[in-house]
Amino acid sequence: MLSATDNDYMSRVGAGTPMGNYLRRYWHPFLETSQLPDPDGDVKNVTLLGERLIVFRDSKGKVGLMQWNCPHRSAPLFYARNEESGLRCVYHGWKFDVTGQCVDMPSEPAASNFKDKVRATAYPVEEQGGVLWAYMGPAELKPPLPELEWAQVPESQRVMAHFTVHCNWVQTLEGDVDSSHVGFLHRTNMRSGALDSRYVEHDNAPKWIVEQTDYGMALAAKRETPEGDSFYWRINQWFLPYFTLVATDLARTKIHSHIWVPVDDYYSEIWCVEYTTQGQDLTEQEKWQLTAGPQAHIPSFNPETHTLDANETNNYLHDRTAQKAFSFSGIAGIREQDAAMTEGMGALVDRMAEHLGTSDTAIIALRRRLIKDARDLEAGVEPWVASHAEGYHLRSWSAVIEKDAVYPNDPRMRQMAVVPE
Ligand code: FES
Ligand SMILES: [Fe+2]
Repeated sequence: MLSATDNDYMSRVGAGTPMGNYLRRYWHPFLETSQLPDPDGDVKNVTLLGERLIVFRDSKGKVGLMQWNCPHRSAPLFYARNEESGLRCVYHGWKFDVTGQCVDMPSEPAASNFKDKVRATAYPVEEQGGVLWAYMGPAELKPPLPELEWAQVPESQRVMAHFTVHCNWVQTLEGDVDSSHVGFLHRTNMRSGALDSRYVEHDNAPKWIVEQTDYGMALAAKRETPEGDSFYWRINQWFLPYFTLVATDLARTKIHSHIWVPVDDYYSEIWCVEYTTQGQDLTEQEKWQLTAGPQAHIPSFNPETHTLDANETNNYLHDRTAQKAFSFSGIAGIREQDAAMTEGMGALVDRMAEHLGTSDTAIIALRRRLIKDARDLEAGVEPWVASHAEGYHLRSWSAVIEKDAVYPNDPRMRQMAVVPE
């Protein structure tokens, strides 16, 4: 349970809100580079942290991310002409460069210097890991990009997809620390081999360790093994503010990562990124499996609209026959199952109506951490990891280890958690 005041404090992301200010200390992925390929190409709509924006690539290939409404009289810049290193509003022809500076004002007398005084709100954009990242915070605090491993590996070693869901970002993020839902909601996917399942099924009541760290939290699940002489460990990582790494399978050759970006208070952009950890390329089949085939992670992903075809308008194609016969949820696809649960809570869930149990320990810890960090910032304490790119040099993992290993500092564990230099 969370009071309505705390719930609003934690969930709302608009400019000037406490959590909005906190999030504006970080870089935010908002588009794949391939979605904005050409200089002087299409202008695209972007909503990020509740701000309605347009994005374009100018004649020199630089990316501009700026306010949607023209600073002159608020006409939409979405329809602007992208030409000669700037964006020209089609209402009266005012033109802006990627920094937001007005560089031409043909509707004013040639001698006027009024254009020098007009500036659109524009945000820095950088490209890393096949993704466009935006920084929307104070210019003097602009940090380096987070060095997440998936963004450092060659393109041939990762695959990604992103799509919009109709609910608040914390609701979506909570799913990644809500380990107890996996054995229910995603049970059928586990049985079909989508998750490493032999050890999970042997011990349905793992011991959970929530480790608070300077970068966020690590979540460790410790299970008895059928052999009895060792423990089966699964470790998930949560990097502030919303990057997660799901525990790997025992081979540890690939990591599945999620990013839960707040579009506004009621919509989130969910990114799924899968990458390899030992320098090997992903096969075409491995890439394909993210969104296609019988074991797809997001089978109804629509690459044109970046939404799910199985969604709240069609009850996620819920199939009661399948549910009776073999499917625990009756919904195909792990991401579709999660969307059905988190969107169905309501776009911004009322957390006064909850009854949290012992299995919700990590969720409680996550909420407390977000609220604490935003309160710290209000008191003048900057979030550490926002300005420490190397704080993201970690992996999720899973392993079977002799019972004497103590989490988290046993060398056998540290070696799996740290990204090799
Ligand atoms: S509203 Fe854009 S130039 Fe007038
Ligand atoms: Fe889930």
